[in-house]
Amino acid sequence: VFSMDGAVAPLRGIVELASRYGARVMVDEAHATGVVGPGGRGLVTQLGLEEQVDVVIGTLSKALGSYGGFACCSADLAELLINRARPLIYSTGLPPPVVAASMAGLAVLRDEPEIVRRLWANARLLRGELAAGGFEVAAGEMPIVPVVVGEPDLAVELSERAFAAGVFAQAIRPPTVAPGTSRLRLVATAAHGERELTHAAGAIGTAARAVGALPRSS
Ligand SMILES: Cc1ncc(COP(=O)(O)O)c(C=O)c1O
Repeated sequence: VFSMDGAVAPLRGIVELASRYGARVMVDEAHATGVVGPGGRGLVTQLGLEEQVDVVIGTLSKALGSYGGFACCSADLAELLINRARPLIYSTGLPPPVVAASMAGLAVLRDEPEIVRRLWANARLLRGELAAGGFEVAAGEMPIVPVVVGEPDLAVELSERAFAAGVFAQAIRPPTVAPGTSRLRLVATAAHGERELTHAAGAIGTAARAVGALPRSS
């Protein structure tokens, strides 16, 4: 997933290429854990590519609400990482409360799959409200919703005006994104209420009209 666009990697094609050229495939599911696939189990699971992907890495710090990360791989590769991965060897292990919090996060994900469904419903709602307000919103594959406005100053001003209206919509500028594609990066979560999302889209629309990022008549 490219985390500024909410774009999903063409993993089937990558796996095909890897098998043609004998390469290993590692997938970073940092943005997909708890979000993509059945029960939020990630893109590899969604596409049924568990047998074709060598390593899945992820973070416990995003949807799972904890800290640290993980690598899912063969027992042999795990052994190699434990003995050779410098960040693992030369750092202190995760504190037990952090491990407990991560396991609790996983248990919530397993026991309450409706949270993932709510997340996607909220993302669709936010996209729909923005589109109804006159924004061109790409049909997204992820709950990350980029509102591209172009120039960096415009994105910053829009972000500040949205913030003044109670909406946290971060401005993302070059070099994080390509010149001319500065944007607000919105993220719908399962914890948002319908009214919050409607308010957010409305406030961003009002701010965009005020700064000239949207025509006043729309
Ligand atoms: C794609 C991707 N991988 C890995 C990470 C690292 O996660 P953490 O900050 O928990 O180390 C991030 C964090 O933003 C990310 O976006």
